[in-house]
Amino acid sequence: MKVMCVIGTRPEAIKMAPVVNAFKKCEDFEVCVLATAQHRDLLDQAFSLFDIQADYDLNIMQPGQTLPELTSRLIVGIDKILTEAKPDLVIGQGDTTTVFVTALACFYQKIPFAHLEAGLRTHDLYSPFPEEANRILAGNLACLHFAPTEVSKNNLLREAMKPEQIFVTGNTVIDALLATAQKDFPLEVDIPEDKRMVLVTSHRRENFGQPIINTCQAILELVKKYEDICVVFPVHPNPNIRNVVDEYLLNHDRIKLVSPFDYGPFVSAMKKAYIILTDSGGVQEEAPALGKPVLVLRRDTERPEAVTEGVVKLIGTEKQDIVNEASILLDNVDAYRAMAKGASPYGDGNSSERIVQIVRAYFEQAQR
Ligand code: UD1
Ligand code: UDP
Repeated sequence: MKVMCVIGTRPEAIKMAPVVNAFKKCEDFEVCVLATAQHRDLLDQAFSLFDIQADYDLNIMQPGQTLPELTSRLIVGIDKILTEAKPDLVIGQGDTTTVFVTALACFYQKIPFAHLEAGLRTHDLYSPFPEEANRILAGNLACLHFAPTEVSKNNLLREAMKPEQIFVTGNTVIDALLATAQKDFPLEVDIPEDKRMVLVTSHRRENFGQPIINTCQAILELVKKYEDICVVFPVHPNPNIRNVVDEYLLNHDRIKLVSPFDYGPFVSAMKKAYIILTDSGGVQEEAPALGKPVLVLRRDTERPEAVTEGVVKLIGTEKQDIVNEASILLDNVDAYRAMAKGASPYGDGNSSERIVQIVRAYFEQAQR
């Protein structure tokens, strides 16, 4: 049986890599990888760490790409590769434009599509934009849903997806994290021994403009207020983020602006961090498993499990809220400990093995 894994962006590569490698171990499957390269440099970084080679590479990314341009280049490109490769099943991950268009291209060719990280919802179509719509659309075209948690499974059931097509597998990001965290990747940034490290990431469309400016201003206020902190900010290459961050935060000795880390060093950065400020989906899943408090620079999340556990807090992007919430963790040891207790509601590190079993059973049933 031929399984095609489609990967567009950094988080898709990190979360799909354990699945690709699990299929590679099985003699009854032929696995091939289609890189749309919706991201170029960020994707290449992740592929090299996990030793993944693309069998097909669309090299789609363009600087400052718009959603319509991206969508139209993807649909034509993916359709051609499907015609050539003729997979029996295609797997796409998450909520990017790549996954939505992959699902649509498969539908047009009547190729079964399986959705990895299915069922995440904020229940607000415009937040995150366009990801909430992307995952709903992809899910509606899927014949297999790999839901990370019971919460995501229930979201799918509420949308009248067929129960026999939904499987709670955990999130493969924890497979990737646990395998990577075992190794010791050098951090590549000098943090003085006596400083507490605050790790920051931001890239979401809804944080372009004033929200990312607020975040930068809050960081400036925090480094002024706390002489014992050092901020490390791997800056996403999107010009809407990079230009603002450079304008506000360049040339401060306790604010280290760096290029996006490879996944190995980024895991080391999470391990070393005292607290993490982020709007990233993946980081919300990973950091709790490493026992690190996460303050989420968003008003809502499709990942409520860690919030319920008390190890992740939604704080939005108002400057004063960011300063106040970070200050609580930096000042109050009890508040800090409560959020640093560690929890892994998103997986146990064995999700990709489960997915292989489910796909095998799916083909066996189809053949009967
Ligand atoms: C995309 C996903 C988002 C995901 C994020 C992960 C969509 C609509 N958005 O957002 O869901 O959370 O990836 O990071 O699918 N760029 C580079 N080099 C890279 C990557 C990006 O220069 O390796 C720059 C380019 O100018 C590119 C821009 O970033 O045009 C935006 O990339 P795009 O994939 O459209 O959006 P992201 O904000 O990265
Ligand atoms: N990540 C990384 N290097 C960095 C920042 C993040 O490897 O400099 C990893 C992070 O550990 C997580 C993934 O990238 O697994 C998240 O990607 P991103 O935040 O871009 O997307 P999202 O998860 O929000 O879709």
